[in-house]
Amino acid sequence: MPVDLSTEPLSWIVVVGDVFGRPGRSALSLGLKKVTSERNIVFTVVNGENLAGGKGLNEKTVSECFDMGVSAITTGNHLFDQKGVVDLLQKDGRVLRPLNFSRLCPGAGSGIFTLESGLRVGVINLIGRVFMAPSDCPFSAADEVLDGWKSQGLFPDLVLVDFHGEASGEKRAMGFHLDGRVDALYGTHTHVQTNDLERFPGGSWYLTDVGLSGPHWSVIGVEPEMALSKYRTHVPAPFKVADGELLFCALLLGVSVKQGRWSIEKAELFREVFPKDGD
Ligand SMILES: [Fe+2]
Ligand SMILES: [Fe+2]
Repeated sequence: MPVDLSTEPLSWIVVVGDVFGRPGRSALSLGLKKVTSERNIVFTVVNGENLAGGKGLNEKTVSECFDMGVSAITTGNHLFDQKGVVDLLQKDGRVLRPLNFSRLCPGAGSGIFTLESGLRVGVINLIGRVFMAPSDCPFSAADEVLDGWKSQGLFPDLVLVDFHGEASGEKRAMGFHLDGRVDALYGTHTHVQTNDLERFPGGSWYLTDVGLSGPHWSVIGVEPEMALSKYRTHVPAPFKVADGELLFCALLLGVSVKQGRWSIEKAELFREVFPKDGD
């Protein structure tokens, strides 16, 4: 007789936005320990574009994340700020680059991750075009991947989309474009958690930005004094990652299976401040 999994407690997917520098990696470690102690976590996806000193990512910082239990890393406009990223993208399919970068860009912009339970999670990494550097159309790029999975019979059980973008309007438009075709669409890049988590009419969960994991008392990760000086004087100021208390922001997705079909039953915003590193 088949086991009725609909009576099982929820499994959880942890979605983390931009992780900023060493304080961000510490916040990630503390945050993941906390959510793992309270829930059954089956998959964790993190945006890694600011992992290394706030600018880009490298082998060391990526390995640190995987050692903490991270399953996949999405990226954004800071992807190539550090050396060695081309190698990283070519050898590790868990690190994604924005799908709608040039077709000639190394690496993949989407991936399907098969978990121990057999659950297959698809992740698509898009980047916006409003107030950002030029890239291909994120709307048709997403369509192509979804159609490709469908036509090849590979469509995953759950699909998550990271839309790395500046403009809330563009992200919300993408929410409607993909509504009912993906399970969750969430934004990254602004480093500020928004309070608009909801289920769209077609059934997809939507959040404009997951928010920063990094130094709490900062201007999107940067030492406030440096940021203020630049804004007030127009003179470029040296870039310094702030320190002090650690902020961890996440989106938690509670998933379950009914009659062989997986879905997100529940979604919650998560935000926690931890004492300064070592305190
Ligand atoms: Fe960022
Ligand atoms: Fe970004």
